[in-house]
Order: sequence, then structure tokens, then C-alpha cells
Amino acid sequence: MPFLRNCWYVASWSSELASAPLGRRLLDEPVVMYRLSSGEPVALSGRCPHRFAPLHLGKVIEDKIQCPYHGLRFNSAGACVFNPQGNGATPKAVHLRAYPFIEKYNALWIWTGDPERADVAQIPDYAFLADSRLARIEGYLHSKANFELLTDNIMDLGHVDFLHAGSLGCEATAKAKTTITRVGNAIHCDRWMANDRQGPLLSWLFGKEGRRVDAWVDVIWNPPSLMQLNFGMTEVGAGREVGHEIPNVHFMTPETESSTHYFWASARDFRTDDAALSKQLYEGVTAAFTFEDKPMIEAQQEMMGTTDLWALKPALLAGDAAPVMARRALAKLIEEERANASPVGEGRHDNASAQENKSVFAE
Ligand code: FES
Ligand SMILES: [Fe+2]
Repeated sequence: MPFLRNCWYVASWSSELASAPLGRRLLDEPVVMYRLSSGEPVALSGRCPHRFAPLHLGKVIEDKIQCPYHGLRFNSAGACVFNPQGNGATPKAVHLRAYPFIEKYNALWIWTGDPERADVAQIPDYAFLADSRLARIEGYLHSKANFELLTDNIMDLGHVDFLHAGSLGCEATAKAKTTITRVGNAIHCDRWMANDRQGPLLSWLFGKEGRRVDAWVDVIWNPPSLMQLNFGMTEVGAGREVGHEIPNVHFMTPETESSTHYFWASARDFRTDDAALSKQLYEGVTAAFTFEDKPMIEAQQEMMGTTDLWALKPALLAGDAAPVMARRALAKLIEEERANASPVGEGRHDNASAQENKSVFAE
């Protein structure tokens, strides 16, 4: 399936990006990212138009990226501004694609579709990710699986009781009272788990180890693959308003059809100065994602091969309602996008470069 292009994807956390180039394949396009001396982030096509060297292996010199192979230099708009060879001509068509690229909520967001349509207002509100009053942890994982399998994993938390037994797992999630609603393009999947035990890691975090509690986990999906997950706990019968809630995000960005960049973060409003707690929590969550979710989802992808999920006629369980709604909503948006316009692609630039190079040699 093609990717939705006219939307924002997370390309990196703010903390990952400095003045040195960072290379990542995003939606099957090589991208190089770096910061200007002003701190402003830049995202350019990551493949040199000369002999296609990976630009992230190059250097940033005076805010320009220099190709590591023959030394062409490009500015932040993607224009070639220095050519060490021959008469030093810098043909206009030898340029890189510059992507709309913005920093918001401690993340860097890239738009690989029509730049004219890039609208920052399309990013859902994740203000808690930038709220300095909260203690925040974040992580990145690479996964050898299609991004929709990772979306399914968050939208159907029925796996928690089994895959995460001993860490996040409990016996309450699969049988939780679940409500699914659509709000515009967003899909909300709310689970309420009354008078039950929660998994060891979360019970410990909320200071309720070994006790029965009322708990909830509300997930909001926004296209293309952005999820906020709010987990909360309170005393049995006390009501949500007196409990505590921790907001989390799970942002999936396709690397290729069969691999994904997985960005996650969590913020809490209690024991915010407790660095040891943050460290333990980070290690606990990272272990669950790395040693429990990741191997299962990668093995699932291997079992499916390159066959589409629907072609395999999957059995559908109650927990599949929300992930199936998200898959259908995304497929519809992709269909509409393809029907309405063709996105700007790299090919157009490469052809233009080849044309102009021809004329340079002919002179
Ligand atoms: S491959 Fe980049 S300058 Fe030659
Ligand atoms: Fe999981």
C-alpha cells in the first residue's frame, strides 16, 4: 500500500538532532537532517544528485552540507552552492529536495507531500510533551515490520495480558469495558478496568503494588500513525478525577514498507524530580518494547511475508475493532489523496538534474 504523503510524520526527537548530519530513510526516501548554527532544523534529500553518495556521511560546513564523495556543497534550501571541480559551476538543477520540517513538542516533523499543503495546524495537540512541569522520558526503536502492525499493537492492547506478562501485563486489559468513538479523523479507544489488578511495572509506578484498583487506558489515534495513550489508576470506587494519569505517545513513521521508526514518550506529574524513577521507568518500558513487542511484531511480519493483511483473511476478535477502524480510515485518506493529486516526488528533481548536466557537458 502507498503511504499517505500530505501529512506530518515524526522524523526524530529534538534531542537526537544536532549540527552533525543525521540520516534516516523516511517513507522510503533517503533524508539527511541537521541543524543550522541558529538551531533551525533542516531536512534535505539524503542522496547526492552526482553519484548518489549518502549525504549523512558528509560534513556540515558553515551551515551547508558537503557530500563526502566529491565535495559538492548544498545550502539549507537544497541549492548546490559549491563545486570543487572544473570551473566551479553550480548548475541550478543540481539540487536537493528540501522538505517542510518543523520542530514542535520536542519532536521534528517532516512533510513528504505537496509542500504547498504543509500546515502545522494538522499536528494534533501534544502540548504535554513540551510541558516543563512534567517529568518526561522518551525513546526510539527500530522495527523490522510494517508501521501498521505497530499501530495495531497499540490500538489493540488485548496483547498486554499475554505478551507482557511479568512487566506491563495483568489480567484486566483483554476483558476491559471498551468504548470506541470517532471524532473527526481521530479514533478513540477507551478501556475501563474496574476493581482488578494491574501489571507489576505500572502498579509499582503508581504505588499500588499487589492491590486491586480501578484503571483506564484511553488511546487516541490520529492519521497517519500517531497515537496518544493515557494510562490512569485510582482506588476502587474513588472515581477517575482523584486518580493519576500518565500521558504517553507512540508515533510510527514508516522507514520502508516493511520497517518502521518507532518514537515513544511518557510524561508524569508526580515525583517529577526523581531521576532514579525516570531511569527505572525508562529501562522498564524499553525492556518491554524491545524484548516483548519488537520480537513478536517482527516475527509476525516474517510469517506474513509481503502479503497484505487482508489478503491473508485474518480472524477478527473484539479487540480488533479499533485497529481495523484505523486501518480503514488511513486507507480511505490514501485513496482520496491519490484521487486528488500526485505528490511531489524525488524523480522529478533527478530528471531535471540529468537534463541540466547534459547541457553543462554540451557547452
Ligand atoms: S557523489 Fe556527491 S559529489 Fe559526487
Ligand atoms: Fe505491547
